[in-house]
Amino acid sequence: MEYLKWLKNKDLEYRDGELFFGEHCVSSLGEKFGTPTFIINESTIRKRYDELHSILKTINSNMQINFAVKANNNLHVLRLLDSLGGHFDVVSSGEAFLCKAAGIQPGKILQTSNNWTDEELEYAVKNHISINLDAPSQIHRLNNIVNKYDAEKPIVSFRVNPIFGAGHHSHTITAGEHVKFGILEDKIVEVYKQALNAGFKRLGIHIHIGSGILNAAEFEKAIQKYYNIIQKIISELDIIFEFIDFGGGLGIPYKPDQDPINVQGYANLIKKYHEEFTRKLNLGNPKFIFEPGRFLTAESCIIVSKINTIKKRSNKIFIGCDTGFNTLIRPAFYGSYHHIIPTQDIESYMDKNVDIVGQICESGDVLGRDRHFPQVKEGDYICIMDTGAYGYSMSSNYNARPRAMELWIHNNQPPKIVRTRENFTSLLENQVISLPSEVFTQSIPFIKMHGTGNDYIYLDFFKYTYPEINYFDLARKISHRRFGVGGDGLVLIIPKSTNVVRMRMFNTDGSESEMCGNAIRCIGGYCYGQGYVNTSEFFVETEGGIKKIIVLGPNKIRVNMGSPILEGLKIPTSVDRTPVIDHEISVNGFSGKFTAVSMGNPHAVYFLNDISSLNLEKIGSLLEHHPFFPERVNSEFVEILNRNEVNFRVWERGSGETWACGTGASAALVAGVLKGVLDNKVLFHLKGGDLTLETNEDLTEVWKTGPWEFIGEGMYRYSQNLS
Ligand SMILES: Cc1ncc(COP(=O)(O)O)c(C=O)c1O
Repeated sequence: MEYLKWLKNKDLEYRDGELFFGEHCVSSLGEKFGTPTFIINESTIRKRYDELHSILKTINSNMQINFAVKANNNLHVLRLLDSLGGHFDVVSSGEAFLCKAAGIQPGKILQTSNNWTDEELEYAVKNHISINLDAPSQIHRLNNIVNKYDAEKPIVSFRVNPIFGAGHHSHTITAGEHVKFGILEDKIVEVYKQALNAGFKRLGIHIHIGSGILNAAEFEKAIQKYYNIIQKIISELDIIFEFIDFGGGLGIPYKPDQDPINVQGYANLIKKYHEEFTRKLNLGNPKFIFEPGRFLTAESCIIVSKINTIKKRSNKIFIGCDTGFNTLIRPAFYGSYHHIIPTQDIESYMDKNVDIVGQICESGDVLGRDRHFPQVKEGDYICIMDTGAYGYSMSSNYNARPRAMELWIHNNQPPKIVRTRENFTSLLENQVISLPSEVFTQSIPFIKMHGTGNDYIYLDFFKYTYPEINYFDLARKISHRRFGVGGDGLVLIIPKSTNVVRMRMFNTDGSESEMCGNAIRCIGGYCYGQGYVNTSEFFVETEGGIKKIIVLGPNKIRVNMGSPILEGLKIPTSVDRTPVIDHEISVNGFSGKFTAVSMGNPHAVYFLNDISSLNLEKIGSLLEHHPFFPERVNSEFVEILNRNEVNFRVWERGSGETWACGTGASAALVAGVLKGVLDNKVLFHLKGGDLTLETNEDLTEVWKTGPWEFIGEGMYRYSQNLS
């Protein structure tokens, strides 16, 4: 294939001298997002999936494509393939977990572990994941586990080793007498017999002979042998297989002189043998399963990398860039070829051949060897092609280099970060440093956001694994305005299940709170923006109940604040009345009347003529700790401008006066409607900005709409005294 056409086939082309991937200028992405960055192009994955599906379905309409997750486990890739109708091939419980986290139904997952552990079998059984075994001993262990959980017997298949393997490197050839995978022909009838005896009735069969096979004819011997083995099993045991799995292995043209694999030729081979054996045997109508990894995603991704050092020797030139084998291990591990091009169309060439090398402290850290390469200079960007399979998924922190970022592009849409770049704190993850002073020191990555001036420090459990921390202590220290990062408290953002996020929050005094209506907006906007949820309407589970979030715009969130509780004792107050309206109270020279409402946390609302002159420092804490409120209380002060507009101040339990409080505003709306002084929709002017609160006629639901903002992120050095 002509070179430019070959590039174009991978959605790469030079336009006015600049390299474009899809509709995006590669050097601009490098400039904006930093390097090294994996750039994943959605449309390339779509194209490859359609291409493969349209050919393979012609040989059997009863077929499915199980994407091999080991090639690329980015949740966005998994979700995209799920939406295209793909199923999934996983090789570990971890990969199955990632599929589930991407919202994939367990029925779409087939696990082919190698040397299955009992724990992995249990995980698969409990999660209704289909199981492909690869050793005779495993069927008994599986049977015991199925019995232990009184589970329905799952579909089971065995991986056959058809002796004939193929692949781009000995490490990726997965069939052959000296290869660890699968069950050889001499034992295969026996294992199916054992499965039948143990009561497994739904059976499939599987092969995967290797990876990176570019010549379709190389599959032939294995497929022929596979059908011979199938024939042997069927004629001895009279089994009708529910599926025949042909594994993956389809290669892609990494080198400019290579053409894409002839998928039609591959399909024809399978068709030929299936038809031949159908004439001899009752094969039934088994589903055909294919497990491509590389074919679907390799070409969908490039790495943009920056040249930092060019070193000239008498015999060759070293082009040093920031992508070492920690980021892309294939060249060092398999001697694989990845085509590398500058992001600018440069006509002249270096006067000697070059080695393109990374920064890893090993001589094997070579990305491209002996290349005739354009005349680049330090500071230029390069593009390492075809890195969407076994790229990020094989990357590491070796040499303590944080892993790269993954960026998502699709047509003209703005690029989206789908996996953030690791930082130095990531390198500390799971490490426990005990200092001699018995102080446990840990770097805590945090982000800071505010909703109408209610600023919290957030820990993102989607992104980071935090060690066991005393959150009460951390909240006190990190939220200190002078000695800490400073904020109205600490909030934990925790994955719960698909489209459900959990939040926990701690006040500046370390006490735990049920929920905060401003923090929840920040969580809503942030989780949506990060892709932690895949819909603009989702749920946040709080200690004060589950709240629905609706993302109305980039910084505008509507939250269902739930139902108010009006029973005095349940709020809780010491007043045994429902509702508690205009109850008199006095502290330190302040005399007022409060209306009590719980929005998952207790509130006392005061309607006053002028709130600007109130000295909350003097009375806030006394009201909070008044004996009327057994669990203390948030106090809200409302100045009515008209039935649809109020000024508002708040004293938050455990935190003091804050710039805004969403549950407080909700409680104030409910109190105002109860007292007949406010309508059901009211604009609140708070110290930190405006919020709109709405409630229905019978006061069973409150909705709040308002902004949120990301302030920044950083690392907090936390010292916890162990004594
Ligand atoms: C069981 C199994 N299926 C499918 C694949 C995918 O292979 P490829 O990416 O070459 O299509 C692999 C890769 O090693 C595998 O082990």
